[in-house]
Amino acid sequence: MTGRIWIRWAAMHAIPGAFLAVQARRGDPLARFLLHGAAGAERYQVIEAIRQQGRLVRTPFLWVSADHELCREVLRDNRFGAVDTTTSGLPKPLTALIARADPGLPNPVEPPSMLMVDPPEHTRYRRLVAHSFTPRAIDRLGDRVTELTTRLLDTFDSDQQVDLLPAFAEQLPVAVIAEILGLPTDARPSLLDCGHRAAPLLDVGISWTTYRRAIEGLRNLDDYLRDHFDQVRHGESTDTPFSRLALDGTLTHRELAANAALLIGAGFETTVNLIGNGIVTLLDHPEQLARLHDDPGLWPNAIEEILRYDPPVQRMVRIARHDIEIAGHQIAANDTVMLLPAGANRDPRVFTDPDRFDITRPNAADHLAFGSGVHACIGAALARVEGVTALRALFSTFPALHLAIPPEKRELVTLNGYRRLQANLGAKEKAGARK
Ligand code: HEM
Repeated sequence: MTGRIWIRWAAMHAIPGAFLAVQARRGDPLARFLLHGAAGAERYQVIEAIRQQGRLVRTPFLWVSADHELCREVLRDNRFGAVDTTTSGLPKPLTALIARADPGLPNPVEPPSMLMVDPPEHTRYRRLVAHSFTPRAIDRLGDRVTELTTRLLDTFDSDQQVDLLPAFAEQLPVAVIAEILGLPTDARPSLLDCGHRAAPLLDVGISWTTYRRAIEGLRNLDDYLRDHFDQVRHGESTDTPFSRLALDGTLTHRELAANAALLIGAGFETTVNLIGNGIVTLLDHPEQLARLHDDPGLWPNAIEEILRYDPPVQRMVRIARHDIEIAGHQIAANDTVMLLPAGANRDPRVFTDPDRFDITRPNAADHLAFGSGVHACIGAALARVEGVTALRALFSTFPALHLAIPPEKRELVTLNGYRRLQANLGAKEKAGARK
């Protein structure tokens, strides 16, 4: 098995990574961005450098855009499709090799994950999974999020030192995903482990060790889901729309498991960063936090502004299905286009004074943090509920909360968030006094 996945790693990460390293040395800002060379504030400088080169920029290996209108247009244009990383842009002999080395695991960034396929296949998966995200389902999950947040905050004391990422930000999204999939509470640590291991798969040029750990994580998840779906078939699981999918046999095991893995990755590794990035951004802007204390009705817009200002997902990729003319450029069939939501979200043509964090910004919700078009985030409404509930409760329970040491970002490119948020919680407000 190691031999087979090594071939995949070499074709999908080692070779493109080496190519990017050469480009980065030549000063290409996109290559620097893709190779972890740009973290934190530097990341936004690199994105700005790309914007300065034009609305749609041709680089040696793909097109890239940090322009709001253009990103939105590409995401909504069905002449562009999802990029299958096992075939797109690779020579035929290499794709044949990759296919032969397929470990058959549920990989959220390979077909049949819905994110990686086009209609009509995409429409079929999305319709089935959408039963878990109806307004009624979100209301029910929202109640659970409130319950869980209260329970978590009750375990913290005044002046406690705590790493808010594992102790708080991670706990809500993972519990919610477990509920959606109908998994028991004791599944949460394995889901967290698998999510953390698999997150780098969204990047390009990752190391062999990181890739192997990610594949091991997917293998553990596959074993777990196989047992779980068997239990569902024997009537031993919570009844949820997703577990009903496992029962009715509409999807094969691989289809079901790949889309479950996608929900775990897409639902967990992003929302934890909305909460984490929100904590840091608000602490960096105490005057905005003070406004939220005075007027909690501002929280929903504050969440939109956090998503605009420091989005958890930093790149989306599409492939041209035909020759396409766009923004005065001729894109050839099979060319790849990379879209940078963090660039779109700071496009001065859409957002006034875009580098300013302003929770009252009237058009904050025009951000592209959830994508757009057929693949637009299916969990956006849920993520918003989780963000508002978690951050409002945290800051009203611990109004003097502050970071004990400077926060550190994770070394990921596509997903943008912190590794640790060591905080001192300060005095705890009495439950009745909280807004
Ligand atoms: C703040 C939190 C979140 C952010 C920033 C986010 C962001 C995104 C983005 C940008 C996409 C589109 C990717 C593309 O077009 O290539 C996407 C798709 C998706 N998201 Fe989210 N997401 C979040 C939360 C969630 C949650 C809570 C769930 C589920 C529990 C979820 C499930 C999905 C799924 C299944 C897709 C694929 C949809 C499709 O291909 O049709 N996401 N998300």
